[in-house]
Amino acid sequence: MCGIVGVLGHNQVAPILVEALRRLEYRGYDSAGIATVNKGALERRRAVGKLVNLSDLLVHNPLAGHAGIGHTRWATHGAATEHNAHPHACGPVTVVHNGIIENFRALREKLAPHGLSASTDTDTETVAMLCAYHLAQGLDPEAAVKATVAELDGAFALLFLFEGQEDLMIAARKGSPLAIGHGDGEMYVGSDAIALAPMTDQITYLEEGDIAFVTRAGAKIIDVNGQLANRAKQKIETQATVIDKAGHKHFMTKEIYEQPVVMSEALSRYAPNGAPAFPEALDFSRFDRIVMVACGTGYYSCLTAKYWFEQIARIPCEVDVASEFRYREPPIAPRTLAIFVSQSGETADTLAALRYAQGKADMIVSLVNVGTSSIARESDLALAILAGIEVSVASTKAYTNQLTLLALMALACGQQKGVVSDEQVATYVSELRGVPDLMRQALKLDAQIADMANALAPAQSVLFLGRGAMFATALEAALKMKELSYIHAEAYASGELKHGPIALIDPTLPVVVFAPFDRLFDKTVSNMQEVMARHGNVTLITDAKGLSEASAGTQNRLELPITGDLSGPIVYALPAQLLAYHTAMAKGTDIDQPRNLAKSVTVE
Ligand code: M6R
Repeated sequence: MCGIVGVLGHNQVAPILVEALRRLEYRGYDSAGIATVNKGALERRRAVGKLVNLSDLLVHNPLAGHAGIGHTRWATHGAATEHNAHPHACGPVTVVHNGIIENFRALREKLAPHGLSASTDTDTETVAMLCAYHLAQGLDPEAAVKATVAELDGAFALLFLFEGQEDLMIAARKGSPLAIGHGDGEMYVGSDAIALAPMTDQITYLEEGDIAFVTRAGAKIIDVNGQLANRAKQKIETQATVIDKAGHKHFMTKEIYEQPVVMSEALSRYAPNGAPAFPEALDFSRFDRIVMVACGTGYYSCLTAKYWFEQIARIPCEVDVASEFRYREPPIAPRTLAIFVSQSGETADTLAALRYAQGKADMIVSLVNVGTSSIARESDLALAILAGIEVSVASTKAYTNQLTLLALMALACGQQKGVVSDEQVATYVSELRGVPDLMRQALKLDAQIADMANALAPAQSVLFLGRGAMFATALEAALKMKELSYIHAEAYASGELKHGPIALIDPTLPVVVFAPFDRLFDKTVSNMQEVMARHGNVTLITDAKGLSEASAGTQNRLELPITGDLSGPIVYALPAQLLAYHTAMAKGTDIDQPRNLAKSVTVE
């Protein structure tokens, strides 16, 4: 979602700001802009589309100044136009913003009688107007920002720059993260440490409600109560901020191919000696019920884990998407463990759902890929999924590492509740330990999957089918296909087919069936036969045993290695990812930053 950077430098900051914004491109955006203060005067440059448009503009129309702020915008209020692009300005103040100002209409009405009227469609401009109003009342920038922030409803990260102030930026955090970077006589602000990585590895993360007054000498931070706050400076590991395609054409393929390695790392951390090893605080004997909440791909990892928790650990498990859970206001019974899954750890809906569960669930555990994230910090226990930075908007390695941790949690749960023996646990863990090799075998099918994708690319729509945990795999496959190729895709539990979607079947609708040779195989194959009986065009993804039983009549076949209950959904995710990737390649879509999408969805 929107990216924020700010620099108080020794040299011209425009090129530094653009470079920092480039490092935030992965978040997804549709316009970009920067503002500087130079010889006391504020100036802005903004452009729609990719950052290269802003760089080109700056070549012809440069922006001088040693202090500046920049922004990549993911449109919420108002179309993606130059006019609506950040920074927004009003008189002596300019501001960039990530989040939503919910009361912007009321604020506009309040400011109108004072001669301040909006000239854009955005909520953000109202922040600049309000701050300008307070400055006009005689407040200095510090007091004006405090007064402004106090009047804002919603979730935001804000960064202000002022006319006549070449040694001041003011940052405010409520609901969206911000990091302060410490340089040598220079200071920086960024949405995350990644943006600031080439400039500094010394980072201070703002807490909820903090306002930071940043000068080249350092940052003074006040907390939500207006008290001076002492926030620690952390050294960020350079490895954690490396953004590099490592020779791959896209971040997505790099991340797909990293899966065997990052899964091994997760197994080494969470099952070092052949059994699940989680912090003692996670004592499953305390719980009678599990609630899991997430969005998008994280939701599908939870849906997969529901099968594991219920079938292996015999514990009732409810799964919901965060945007429904938070407003559904479900009763949470005593002895409930609430699990929140989020790659970014900043997804607004998941964070709000977590806050709803606070004080109701017995324990809140999050699975995150960003240890400093809001969701991690607000959980009783945050488990790092150890996938490494995921840059591609379409989540891949985070998904399979989420599955890895959830599988181990289901085993720990079954073991602690006495329904799974130590021997069974050891067998399951050994199955998981074999997955990185199975993944490598699956990745060898890349060229074959590319051929399948080329045949699929002209389709208007694709249907994915699966049973049991493979239903969740089918849902994840459909999500990947939609976000990357823009082809409409749906997934059904294959037993549901005859209750409606079978009406769609004709030779033009590709149907992809995930069917490992397991206890549900015959059932899934019966549904596949129903599709073929209606001249459906079937791609069967199975293993050698499955192919020998049921390949007749299918148009395409993919042979994966033999898998088990835990390994199947992890291994079968890889062809699903590659199929979407290669279909997108065939269609020429923007793979790492698909249209309209953002990596970290920090607004509702
Ligand atoms: O950062 P999160 O895991 O909380 O993000 C949730 C979804 O926005 C995310 O999984 C989204 O669906 C991805 N683009 C899927 O590839």
